[in-house]
Amino acid sequence: MTSLNQQISQSAALIREQACGLKPRLAVILGSGLGAVADLLTETASIPYTSLPGFPQPTIEGHEGSFKIGTVNNVPVYYLKGRVHLYEGVGVDALKVMIRTLKTLDVETVIITNAAGGLHEALEPGSLMAISDHINLTGLNPLTGPNDDDWGTRFPSQEGAWNDGLRTLLIKGAAAQGVTLHQGVYCMHLGPTFETPAEIRMVKTIGGDAVGMSTIPENILARHCGMECVGLAAIVNRAAGMGFEKPSHEQTLIGARLAENNMAAALGAFISAYNIEAASQAA
Ligand code: HPA
Repeated sequence: MTSLNQQISQSAALIREQACGLKPRLAVILGSGLGAVADLLTETASIPYTSLPGFPQPTIEGHEGSFKIGTVNNVPVYYLKGRVHLYEGVGVDALKVMIRTLKTLDVETVIITNAAGGLHEALEPGSLMAISDHINLTGLNPLTGPNDDDWGTRFPSQEGAWNDGLRTLLIKGAAAQGVTLHQGVYCMHLGPTFETPAEIRMVKTIGGDAVGMSTIPENILARHCGMECVGLAAIVNRAAGMGFEKPSHEQTLIGARLAENNMAAALGAFISAYNIEAASQAA
């Protein structure tokens, strides 16, 4: 059987072949139903995950399962259109392949988007929250098992999991587009059930601002191998027990539609600003 590291090298080589010389330093992981963010990309190539060794096939509506190469505002970017969640039963190896392939491709920063439930009055459906920190409530960690020291240390620090300077750049870029970003702590439950109202009260008590079923495994893997992370949550519903409607996947897709244009404006501005900043550092 092909080893994980072989799958990663093979996937990276296949992507490079299709990249027409583009060398993105940024990658975007797209959350549920965020089509307007996908539309930002002027596409050079699109590779189905099924053609990339070790990549998973998403099983959830709204997650296409393709790796895209292109530009946003003339800046080269990779898009992972379609994420997988631990509750789909894919196992962490597929997540490792996805994230470590980005590292092999010399990506420096991963922008992780998601759809989440809001726990505060201001975090209404359609609003956006830049992730300042997180709480992992799954009891799972993608780095359990033998550590491959070639990727990162056995005991990684989680300080700076979400890069402060890059988050500031994101918030400023969004403001310049007239888009307000809240900031807060993202909490991940394993899912696929939404939370009970009692669980939401607990999350609020321990300092959570938004809840979802993704993002933290990707962040842990990306930080482990030395990539920076920026996180942006589209608030698609009020968390369980707080709203008029029960959280549902349909509501997630409706809420994502409310947030997607503002998310696209914020990310477009961030990607341009990131490029300018990197160019000035190189000068
Ligand atoms: N809880 C967990 N995951 C979610 C929610 C929620 O309220 N909304 C969208 N994804």
